[in-house]
Amino acid sequence: MGWLQGNVAVVTGGGSGLGRAVVERFLAEGAQVGVLERSAEKLAKLEADLGDAVVGVHGDVTSYQDNVRVVGETVARFGRLDTFVANAAIWDFSTKLVDMPEDSLDKLFDEMFHINVKGYLLGAKAAVRELAATGGSIILTVSNAGFYPGGGGPLYTASKHAVVGLIKELAFELAPKIRVNGVAPGGMLTDLRGPGALGLGETNISSVPLADLVKQCTVLQQLPEAADYAGNYVLLASKSNSSASTGAIINCDGGMGVRGLAEVAGGNDL
Ligand SMILES: NC(=O)c1ccc[n+]([C@@H]2O[C@H](COP(=O)([O-])OP(=O)(O)OC[C@H]3O[C@@H](n4cnc5c(N)ncnc54)[C@H](O)[C@@H]3O)[C@@H](O)[C@H]2O)c1
Repeated sequence: MGWLQGNVAVVTGGGSGLGRAVVERFLAEGAQVGVLERSAEKLAKLEADLGDAVVGVHGDVTSYQDNVRVVGETVARFGRLDTFVANAAIWDFSTKLVDMPEDSLDKLFDEMFHINVKGYLLGAKAAVRELAATGGSIILTVSNAGFYPGGGGPLYTASKHAVVGLIKELAFELAPKIRVNGVAPGGMLTDLRGPGALGLGETNISSVPLADLVKQCTVLQQLPEAADYAGNYVLLASKSNSSASTGAIINCDGGMGVRGLAEVAGGNDL
């Protein structure tokens, strides 16, 4: 029997990359899943590939009504809600402060923070009553950028630090009924897009030489695939396997925090 047998989850941004990997893994563990996704094309593919165990809702995480809709349609179809995974985000392509165009600063800030932070807050707000009814939990996707500089520019890094703050505050406020935790993955080649305000709305992170970067700045030195991170979400969603965890964040970034100052490659005889 899977770890999530009988569980019902919502995943935002479940149309590609990490979100899609979490959806697939949750299904394999016995869950049923609702997905909020802004790409109609990705949503159609998800539903065609995965069938009736998934309910897809086309919408935007920056709209409270769309978050309410995905919770409502998921509960209407599957009867309950145990887990809300807030995951949809964009990246700033490490745009430095000095390189941000003055005439689009406001637009750029709002776009990044509305998707990456407000989207998570609205999702939690829309889900909270249903989660309280089942003793469920919220899982927020953070990033290595929630802990260290250099995984983005000031806007992405600040937005992911804000997500860490949301996890702590919501874990405090929503206890004891609802647990709130995070997963902080490192790099992976996905469709992660940039801000439209920088003209990067159609560009994705797969255009960046991530494998080389990961080799330099992690001790594990391997670029994981999205599916390699999904088990962390299963653990935190599973009531019987993580009932004492709240306010916790699983750092699964290949060991950036233990990188140290010495050369890693060839540094031992193992
Ligand atoms: N790719 C990486 O290297 C990396 C590293 C660390 C953390 N992350 C985090 O992983 C999470 C998932 O990103 P990914 O890499 O799988 O990218 P992705 O673009 O493949 O997946 C994100 C999904 O969210 C959707 N989406 C984007 N904005 C939306 C909105 N406003 N409303 C609804 N849906 C929206 C996209 O269409 C996409 O399907 C993000 O929180 C990201 O910050 C990614």
